[in-house]
Amino acid sequence: MPDSIQRAVDVLKAGGLVGMPTETVYGLAADANNVAAINKIFSSKGRPSGHPLIVHIAQPEASVANDQQASAIAWREILSQWSRDVSPEALILANKFWPGPLTMILPKAKNVLSEITGGQETVGVRCPQHPVAQDLLKAFGGGLAAPSANRFGRISPTTAEHVREEFPGNEVLVIDGGPCDVGIESTIVDLTRLDTHGALILRPGAITQAMIDQALNPNSETDGLATKTRSTISESNLSVPRVSGSLSAHYAPKTKLLVYDPKNANTTFSEVNEVAGFKKIAWVHFPQAQLSLRNVTKELVLPVESKSLARELYAMLRHLDSLNVDCIFFEQLPDGIEWDAIRDRLGRASVGSGM
Ligand code: TXA
Ligand code: MG
Repeated sequence: MPDSIQRAVDVLKAGGLVGMPTETVYGLAADANNVAAINKIFSSKGRPSGHPLIVHIAQPEASVANDQQASAIAWREILSQWSRDVSPEALILANKFWPGPLTMILPKAKNVLSEITGGQETVGVRCPQHPVAQDLLKAFGGGLAAPSANRFGRISPTTAEHVREEFPGNEVLVIDGGPCDVGIESTIVDLTRLDTHGALILRPGAITQAMIDQALNPNSETDGLATKTRSTISESNLSVPRVSGSLSAHYAPKTKLLVYDPKNANTTFSEVNEVAGFKKIAWVHFPQAQLSLRNVTKELVLPVESKSLARELYAMLRHLDSLNVDCIFFEQLPDGIEWDAIRDRLGRASVGSGM
């Protein structure tokens, strides 16, 4: 076992915190069965208690083999440690998308700490794909509770260096697993209300609703059960559990972030600038954008491929935030579902920015 993994296991066993690389973002990991360790996550992040944490699990050996049934049995066994009722749907999604950027909300097992669930009857579970996360989980031999390794309300870290910026003391041992490949947090799908709501996405991510519906209803020509039932419910009778990532002001840079529609960019800009009188502006746009803005001190051209932008977005926002400009003027993202999760994060970043 590499030294870095052994050291991290020692820290976790002693109730400490580890900055863990995953394919989505870096996590701030602690032993999911140690109350004191879990409390450290909340105090280090400045996260209000009551916001539930995701439990990360290792991929069971048997699920690696190309045998769907053996694999489902293996997933059931490991998931039963965390959930009292592992539905067939949960096993289908585990088989299809784990290890990977998908978190499932399941009915919690009795022994799951209420510090993890925020006192709710449900628990979020994810099997991450990053090889370092897998090595750590296997060597540790238990579940790791891990929120994104940023201070509450700030941008999620996608490199080890970002984690060190967030926690500059020595309270967190950071393992460097390189830059995160996906770059935005996992999709969260709620499977606790399948009868009434279907498989309900609480936070969009790389695994889309269409991919989930397709996995659960491979033969249906029209929309799957999930989609049909979802459309019959209204916002008002939908009591979504507490998801801190669902607060509108989240993932936010300190610098004012303005997302503009290129069709009326000049008007938007002059209206805002008249009030604020920006002296230094970072302009972020797709290739071919044409605008004549005053006071642009930094210009960044966005990748045209959604996966590339997801991978780069948080590092880009962190970098722009460090430039001490008055405003980040950011071209809005194209339509299309492949941009949905990034649009969601950019929107939240914009709402919480400049505070
Ligand atoms: O990609 C990810 O999911 C990353 C990496 C580290 O795995 N983790 C992450 O954790 O984004 P965090 O805590 O920053 O966001 C997890 C979200 C929170 O908004 C939390 O409220 C929600 O998951 N969550 C966790 N358990 C839940 C539950 N039982 N019911 C509803 N939401 C839950
Ligand atoms: Mg987070």
